[in-house]
Amino acid sequence: MKTKTRISFGLAVLSVIGLSFSAHAASPTKAELKNGKAQFVENCAVCHQEDAIGKAGVAPSLTNPELLSIASDKFFMSTIRDGREDTGMPPFAHLGRKGVRDIVSFLRSKATLPNRSAEIDAQPDAHGDPRLGQQWYTYICSTCHGSDGNGYESEGAGTAIGLPGFLDKVSDGFIRETIKIGRSNTRMLSFQGPAGLANLTDQEVEDIIVYLRQQAKK
Ligand code: HEC
Ligand code: HEC
Repeated sequence: MKTKTRISFGLAVLSVIGLSFSAHAASPTKAELKNGKAQFVENCAVCHQEDAIGKAGVAPSLTNPELLSIASDKFFMSTIRDGREDTGMPPFAHLGRKGVRDIVSFLRSKATLPNRSAEIDAQPDAHGDPRLGQQWYTYICSTCHGSDGNGYESEGAGTAIGLPGFLDKVSDGFIRETIKIGRSNTRMLSFQGPAGLANLTDQEVEDIIVYLRQQAKK
């Protein structure tokens, strides 16, 4: 009996310590947030606009609630560090790990939805028919994302979702979730449900993802 009490007490202490550790790691200091904002204004606002709200055809919103909710820190850090080749997004490795991390903390401070990135990145890979995916892509997605998926280069409002700079850094879950829920207050609407721009089935969404993955290998 006594041993049991001691064990559960020990566990309670451990979980309290664990909680305070993770809370600390997740919340940046005021100085870090201030630096992140300053770095954003200096390096990013020219394209991503003030408060990172984005501008169609110029640069996407970085404070969009759905993006912040599904994108991991790893996605943000590596995209900012490496940029996206063959698009208008330049690499920022010269800001250093701390500079980039502070910018990500600043962007995260604008989040209004819970961070679901771990769950989304753990989703299974897509399985489907790339030929059917291509038909849907050409029919619905190419108007904004370009027939080759090169985005703004083809005068579309959407980003370059067919290029390695995007595809190499995202999970199938990230793409799946973006197609299903869209991004509020941008031209990227949801493509599922009665309110969607189209009402794609789960399998049709899988087909599109498989098509995008196959294209990128060419
Ligand atoms: C009416 C225009 C439009 C259509 C049609 C459209 N998109 Fe988008 N899409 C966008 C925009 C705009 C964004 C970026 C949001 C922003 O600017 O902040 C985007 C973003 C995305 C992203 C995230 C890319 C990134 O850089 O993080 C994916 C994935 C995506 N779209 C997939 C699709 C797929 C698949 C289809 C077809 C089923 C589709 N989109 C159709 C406009 C569109
Ligand atoms: C010269 C213009 C320009 C500058 C400066 C710029 N970006 Fe971008 N950024 C873009 C464009 C264009 C894209 C979309 C590329 C594409 O079509 O895939 C983008 C995409 C992104 C994405 C991916 C967003 C998504 O929806 O997937 C992130 C994250 C990002 N930029 C962060 C930053 C940060 C942080 C800075 C400053 C350190 C910055 N960018 C500076 C033009 C710019």
